[in-house]
Amino acid sequence: MVDQSLPALRWAESPDGPEVVLLDQTLLPAQEVELECRDVPALVDAIRRLAVRGAPVLGLAGAYGVALAAARGADVEEAARQLSGARPTAVNLGYGVRRALAAYRAGGGNAGPGARAALDEARALHREDARASELMAGHGARLLADLLPQADGHRLLTHCNTGTLVSGGGGTALAVVRAVHRAGALRRLWVDETRPLLQGSRLTAYEAAREGMPHTLLPDSAAGSLFAAGEVDAVLIGADRITADGSVANKVGSYPLAVLAAHHRVPFIVVAPVSTVDPDTPDASGIEIEQRAAREVTEWAPGAPVAPEGTRVYNPAFDVTPPALLTAVVTEHGVASPVDRASLAQLCSRSRLSESRSGNGMMKA
Ligand code: MRU
Repeated sequence: MVDQSLPALRWAESPDGPEVVLLDQTLLPAQEVELECRDVPALVDAIRRLAVRGAPVLGLAGAYGVALAAARGADVEEAARQLSGARPTAVNLGYGVRRALAAYRAGGGNAGPGARAALDEARALHREDARASELMAGHGARLLADLLPQADGHRLLTHCNTGTLVSGGGGTALAVVRAVHRAGALRRLWVDETRPLLQGSRLTAYEAAREGMPHTLLPDSAAGSLFAAGEVDAVLIGADRITADGSVANKVGSYPLAVLAAHHRVPFIVVAPVSTVDPDTPDASGIEIEQRAAREVTEWAPGAPVAPEGTRVYNPAFDVTPPALLTAVVTEHGVASPVDRASLAQLCSRSRLSESRSGNGMMKA
């Protein structure tokens, strides 16, 4: 296993011009290799292959992608369309693109001041994302302490990957777990392997090991027996899109965990920045769920089949958990609980207020 010291995403000025440099997550945990994207088609390909993945960092990829197109003198409006359409479910991708595009246009829409404005905006988003991680970690750890007063530490279950690999900072749900761990209150992190692409085993177990968290990996199908044995105190996950009514799209397998948690009366907590809340989508019916290739299920690794050739496959990347199954949504602007239109709208308006105070009026387009 490698010791990750490279950020998930960075901007670089190479001798060949500007680049967006990604830590290629498809190669983890075996190898730590950076991928240099010199144009938007390369970045779009990396997003589709999940070389960079997870909602907040997709927002950064979108924003830096617009800055890259502008700095390289490409067609920025077309680049913005390609980036926004690279994956459909995570709302942060379009959010990052819109912010950098608005800055580019406001800067004159050219390769000089326009390009600089787009890059400044991407960097501002990067800083905001890192700060949001810190705030979510604090809010989430306090919420857990309130919900779980027992003294002998928390046994937390998580799904997919929500740590430093998805963020310009510490991440979302895993940032909360890290804060609990640093406070000496993490008894065990249960890590769902997260079929079919194994973001749990390849990425979360890797981050947990690197940070010395006591953790145990399980196949997704083993979660029910863990709940039945009383081994889970709370579930923490991230989100790719939260609709106005509080429906949460996240990595497929999240919804069955929420059903299990409700049945066993275990808190089910979603941790996400306010940029993941999509007030323009009223409810779950408006969420486009990305469908992925059959081979992700029929092959264990490229060329290693685990199903007869020609088997039909259902492979959605995400599912949707209804708000009634959520205990809380933790954001950088506070906690929504119960999760409903009113509590989410309040968090969004707090966010707009703080942005107008800090001079950044570009919330959602
Ligand atoms: O398909 P992925 O790996 O991009 O899916 C990622 C997830 O579902 C994460 O849980 C989500 O983006 C939240 S990350 C903070």
